[in-house]
Amino acid sequence: MEPTQVTLSTGEEVVLREVRDDDLLKLIEMYTTLSDKSMRFLRPYRFTASEVREMHARVDRKKVFSIVAENKDGKIVAEGRLIRYSNSSAEFGMIVHDSYQNKKLGQALLRAILNLAKNVGVKRLIGFCSVENKVAIHIYTKFGFRIEKEFKPEESILGREEGVVRLSISL
Ligand SMILES: CC(C)(COP(=O)(O)OP(=O)(O)OC[C@H]1O[C@@H](n2cnc3c(N)ncnc32)[C@H](O)[C@@H]1OP(=O)(O)O)[C@@H](O)C(=O)NCCC(=O)NCCS
Repeated sequence: MEPTQVTLSTGEEVVLREVRDDDLLKLIEMYTTLSDKSMRFLRPYRFTASEVREMHARVDRKKVFSIVAENKDGKIVAEGRLIRYSNSSAEFGMIVHDSYQNKKLGQALLRAILNLAKNVGVKRLIGFCSVENKVAIHIYTKFGFRIEKEFKPEESILGREEGVVRLSISL
């Protein structure tokens, strides 16, 4: 994707672009400073720098893609990922850092992920989220995803006391 400037609801501008090899330290900074509130919807334990390094190393722009948002100070404040299962199916995930939530960045990032998925030939895109994640479910359904399956807490992949939904969209 070409780098794209996005104006947030606060008037601040950030750039959405594909991740680069030299973004590692910026990604570590973002992932290791997420609040407990944000972590609640991701997983029950915090990210470590070495894990972020491994996640970053998995980006190959064939099976695993990453789009980041960078602010004017050069900080990465959001990441969206597209992980291909096959030529035509993929999963996505996204995180907006606490300091940038609720400013429409998540929706701009989701739009970019959908465009990227279409451009690489993905026809079926899925995402998982906690049933309690009202903001994510609101955004995903607003963009045309539908909830296709609900996993009860006991079968939840996140292994905790709340269910998980799988959402999907045909592109
Ligand atoms: C979920 C997440 C990606 C959303 O990104 P964001 O930048 O905060 O979202 P946006 O500002 O683009 O949009 C927020 C929307 O939710 C709505 N919203 C806010 N609070 C809400 C609530 N309690 N219930 C329902 N909708 C709500 C807002 O009104 C807005 O919708 P609108 O534009 O139609 O009015 C971000 O909050 C995040 O990363 N959270 C932590 C990690 C996470 O949950 N990741 C997703 C895992 S599936």
